[in-house]
Amino acid sequence: MIIKRLSFEGYRNLSEGKIFPNEAVNVVYGKNAQGKTNLLEALWLFSGNRSFRGAKDSDFIGFGKEQAVLDVDFFSEDRIQNAQIIFKQGKKEVKLNGIKQSSVNKLMGKLCIVVFSPEHLSLVKRGPAERRRFIDSAVCQIRPNFSETLSEYNRLVTQRNALLRDLPYHSDLADTMDIWEERLAVFGANVIRMRINYTDRLCSMAEKYHNGISEGKEKLEISYSCAFPKELCSDREALIESYCEKLRETRKDDMKDGVTSLGPHRDDLCIKINGDNVRSFGSQGQQRSCVLSMKIAEAALIKQATEQEPIVLLDDVLSELDSRRQEFLLNKIAERQVFISCCERASADRLKGGKLFYVENGEIMAV
Ligand SMILES: Nc1ncnc2c1ncn2[C@@H]1O[C@H](COP(=O)(O)OP(=O)(O)O)[C@@H](O)[C@H]1O
Ligand SMILES: [Mg+2]
Repeated sequence: MIIKRLSFEGYRNLSEGKIFPNEAVNVVYGKNAQGKTNLLEALWLFSGNRSFRGAKDSDFIGFGKEQAVLDVDFFSEDRIQNAQIIFKQGKKEVKLNGIKQSSVNKLMGKLCIVVFSPEHLSLVKRGPAERRRFIDSAVCQIRPNFSETLSEYNRLVTQRNALLRDLPYHSDLADTMDIWEERLAVFGANVIRMRINYTDRLCSMAEKYHNGISEGKEKLEISYSCAFPKELCSDREALIESYCEKLRETRKDDMKDGVTSLGPHRDDLCIKINGDNVRSFGSQGQQRSCVLSMKIAEAALIKQATEQEPIVLLDDVLSELDSRRQEFLLNKIAERQVFISCCERASADRLKGGKLFYVENGEIMAV
């Protein structure tokens, strides 16, 4: 997949303009707070995911502007396609090839993008929510219907939580609860199974890269950690049944807190090196190498699933890596369209053959 053109208007601090990226490396450089990440974020939104910075839609509209318009021409599925996102007055208008889409989720899988920023470097160390976000966003790009499964699951959890709070006052709601729990178990089981399926593939792919980066010294293992044994999860019907039972068992305790204590919204990825949990025992270097391997594996899995290379965004991440890890990363992501943001021209010049974009105060200039 290749981005041919990106136009923007009223987007964050970016002045109205457009860029025509190179098919290989694109280096976006400039001082701090000039708009480099804003540019990468604008590209990322076409993956159909939410901002990798955790921003709200209203944050995208430039101060004092009515709306933000992003428009992209990209090459995918053997043809040039176009997508547009307009943010205005708390709403989003999304078009794909001129046709209005009901939501930005509909862009998922059209333009697959892998983003890597310094925040991702602490993915291993941080709480489970970040790792769930990582896996969900990765699965969504190769299985676009996963996003609907996930939203329905989240809706059902919210529904059960509301019922948990009402049950003490309305015992007649117990029957309703049975029905909701059955539905919750079906969707929860689907989420778990899709995440496990992805984790297994991620594990074998990332293990290879980690082996390379650690020069054969370390074995990386990634597994999905949830309330059910893995063998059970491979049998959909058995998983749903056991899930329902567990929900019924935990109902009383959950009523005290008013929240559902069990399910994919509480699950995690377990990441180990040579058998030890990296989160607790890994050095910072090992943790970073793990993330690097996982991110490169994420890109490789997109290629495997879609038979197209994803676009890679490296937001200010190179300066955070030592030279060996930098080499490794650049080497493994070569042959894809890459956007690299950095502060100094010096590091930009090192990346030969690329196109340079200089960013100053929201103005983007090809140099
Ligand atoms: N909605 C917005 N409207 C106008 N400016 C914004 C908006 N959101 C962020 N900015 C500005 O964008 C700049 C940060 O841009 P960013 O892309 O993060 O910088 P960097 O070049 O360091 O990556 C800041 O100056 C910030 O004030
Ligand atoms: Mg930045």
